[in-house]
Amino acid sequence: MTEDSRFVLDPATHDLHGDNAKLREAGPLVPVTAEGVPAWAATRHATLLTVLTHPSLSRELRHWSPDARDRMPPGTAIDRIVTDTSLLNAEGEVHRRLRAPLAAAFGARRLERLRPRIEALTANLIDRLAERPPDEPVDLRLEFAYPLPREVISELIGIPAAHQDELHRLTDAVAQVGGSPDDTPDLRKALLDLLDQIIDERRDTPGEDLITDLFALREQDGGRLSEDELFATIELLFIAGHVTTVNLITNAIGALLNVPGQLDLLRSGQCPVSAAVEETLRWDSPIAYFPMRYAVRDIEIDGVHLHAGEPVLACFAAAGRDPDQYGDDAGRFDLTRPPSTHLSFGHGPHFCLGAPLARLEAEVALTALFEAFPQIKAAAPAEELAPLDTLLGNSTRSMPVLLGPRAR
Ligand code: HEM
Repeated sequence: MTEDSRFVLDPATHDLHGDNAKLREAGPLVPVTAEGVPAWAATRHATLLTVLTHPSLSRELRHWSPDARDRMPPGTAIDRIVTDTSLLNAEGEVHRRLRAPLAAAFGARRLERLRPRIEALTANLIDRLAERPPDEPVDLRLEFAYPLPREVISELIGIPAAHQDELHRLTDAVAQVGGSPDDTPDLRKALLDLLDQIIDERRDTPGEDLITDLFALREQDGGRLSEDELFATIELLFIAGHVTTVNLITNAIGALLNVPGQLDLLRSGQCPVSAAVEETLRWDSPIAYFPMRYAVRDIEIDGVHLHAGEPVLACFAAAGRDPDQYGDDAGRFDLTRPPSTHLSFGHGPHFCLGAPLARLEAEVALTALFEAFPQIKAAAPAEELAPLDTLLGNSTRSMPVLLGPRAR
């Protein structure tokens, strides 16, 4: 395959799902260029499943062929993900050691305790929305989908209220790098300095949160988790736990308001809110493309030969609309679709730790929103909303709606 015949992934595309249909048709693994980086794209459901669990594909950066790695443009979204030093890019024993301490924080007990807080935070946001004139457009991405996961993840991790705004300003900036690579090292340093300060402050104030759990673990077994690993974990959770959930809530609102008949299925009780969340995850995955896994030796997947050191990109939004998996109407958002597994939270050892939390947040948020505003409707046609300008996320930059009067 020559450089010229590669598909170039466009972060600013207005037709992600159209682009993905072409990729799926082109083959099980398709040569693409993503932010200047050549990679194989896994776009079909069955192939993506193989890729996510393949014993000879690794997330460890050291397996990427050095000359290709050295040519990676700095400061891009891909650069940020592949150089992350948390559990995300660890394998085997190291991965298990880094992942195990987080299990309690994301387990059923801690989540059930968090539920009333999520409901209270949602109720506050709804109260604020209800103060707005009912016939003026409100951007629900900015004023509803964005603040909820941000406050939840801050509480779960244990970020003191005084630092939350600054921490979010910095993580948002780091998460959206791409345009101005020169800023990245400074932003990253400011972020690490702030995390340093927060962690230092929290040493003497234990609570029911992740920072406290991780401290306790370090004390118990003589620092199994290094300081750097602790930082990387908290930074990952902050970024992974926020923007993805914002996209999920935004995309679910957009689908329910724009696809005729679907909101009625929810309101009439014919379909549970969990069906809306799962169908959104499948049909409009919050993650478009996720880098990278590397072939640790020459391998063949679905008839395609990969050389050792070549990277593979996971295409979650493409797999969610694969007709081979979901039938000819895979492109239709339909809450009555029989439940089927999607891959939008990944699969295998790196399966998303925050999946139960993201589901809980989205269910609470959608239930409260549609109960509070029975006449809510979209304030702009879906196709006019600008997409996020990133390869990683799949959503729109805004979600303008007319709320109408609040239910009594
Ligand atoms: C709708 C929201 C979310 C989506 C769609 C999502 C999706 C994903 C996916 C696809 C992966 C696997 C990546 C891979 O295998 O290459 C992943 C991993 C991960 N996610 Fe999520 N995520 C979401 C929310 C969250 C939340 C709320 C948190 C935490 C608060 C979180 C924390 C993580 C972590 C820590 C990993 C790495 C797990 C590991 O490497 O073992 N995610 N997520």
